[in-house]
Amino acid sequence: MNPFIEVLSGPRQSIPPIWMLRQAGRYLPEYRQLRAKVGSFFDLCFIPEYATEVTLQPIRRFNFDAAIIFSDILVIPYALGREVRFEVGDGPRLDPLDTLEKSRALSTQADFVKLEPIYEALRRVRRELDPTTALIGFCGAPWTVATYMVAGQGTPDQAPARRMAYQHPDAFARIINVLIETSIQYLLGQLAAGAGALQIFDTWAGVLPPREFERWSIEPTRRIVAGVRAKAPDAKIIGFPRGAGALLPSYVEGTGVNAVSIDWNAEPSLIRERVQNRAAIQGNLDPLVLVAGGAALDRAVDDVLSDYAKGRLIFNLGHGILPETPIAHVGQMLKRVRAYKS
Ligand code: CP3
Repeated sequence: MNPFIEVLSGPRQSIPPIWMLRQAGRYLPEYRQLRAKVGSFFDLCFIPEYATEVTLQPIRRFNFDAAIIFSDILVIPYALGREVRFEVGDGPRLDPLDTLEKSRALSTQADFVKLEPIYEALRRVRRELDPTTALIGFCGAPWTVATYMVAGQGTPDQAPARRMAYQHPDAFARIINVLIETSIQYLLGQLAAGAGALQIFDTWAGVLPPREFERWSIEPTRRIVAGVRAKAPDAKIIGFPRGAGALLPSYVEGTGVNAVSIDWNAEPSLIRERVQNRAAIQGNLDPLVLVAGGAALDRAVDDVLSDYAKGRLIFNLGHGILPETPIAHVGQMLKRVRAYKS
């Protein structure tokens, strides 16, 4: 067993297991080098040899307790037949579902053959990893994936999807239902290919008011968790409702996740008293303090440890590592976390 898998369903670990959101990526020179050679981001995701290499890069350098498969949440719209492109420096671009006609024409059936290279990469990574290192599979939560499908891109507050959910709730619910069913299949496929835990990324959960959060974040995630566990009862699942704040206790109770990934705005006593008693906590260093380094980084690492390490904690960032992060600062953080004495 490894400490990351153990803390998801068992006891607190004396040294918190650690990995980083977006740990494979542009802050690593070896990633940038391969990315420049390959050219297209989706080729990195869909050519198993490359996806395996990029997944392993941060493990070789830092020996994190978990690897996360190199892929993207937008592979699901792609498998549903939507056009998905990544323009350099410009984020993702999709063919928007901006009319009722287009949303009604969305296929209900994903082409899972398109996702087979991701399963192959999972099998390869699992073979190459030390047994004490966990492998995480993931998907986007339906709400977050739908925000990109409706708008066709990221926007500051994902207004197009929010507006559609108010104006045409039935049409929007249809998109969400397709994403729920597809995500269950996809996550089960990742478990079968060697993932030991799963993470559901709801990056845009925080733009929803409480009633909408219940309907479009908690309920779809609850259905995915239940659907996966119906076939894989021991599946270990981490939720990441970024920006959920005071709604985190309802999220954990409502979805049944084993752990919840929290951002750096989380309020420690609320988390300890009403969240960590039900689920393991993953987080929540501010990625900017990792860029800053120095004494500020040491202090921020100590704050996360003193806030949460007496309970079940997976040390992580509150959101993805920033491309400008100096690699030495990652080493500094790791050393301090691994020297933790409770
Ligand atoms: O964590 C990892 O190292 C695994 C890989 C991973 C990627 N995307 C690779 C990626 C994971 C887990 C994701 C999830 C993802 N993708 C989310 C949810 C998590 C989060 O960070 O909020 C979202 C919202 C997306 C959609 C997406 N993909 C956006 C908005 C962008 C552009 C912004 C950016 O960071 O560049 C991407 C592209 C993307 N996904 C890159 C990587 C490494 C950059 C591609 C490049 O090299 O140019």
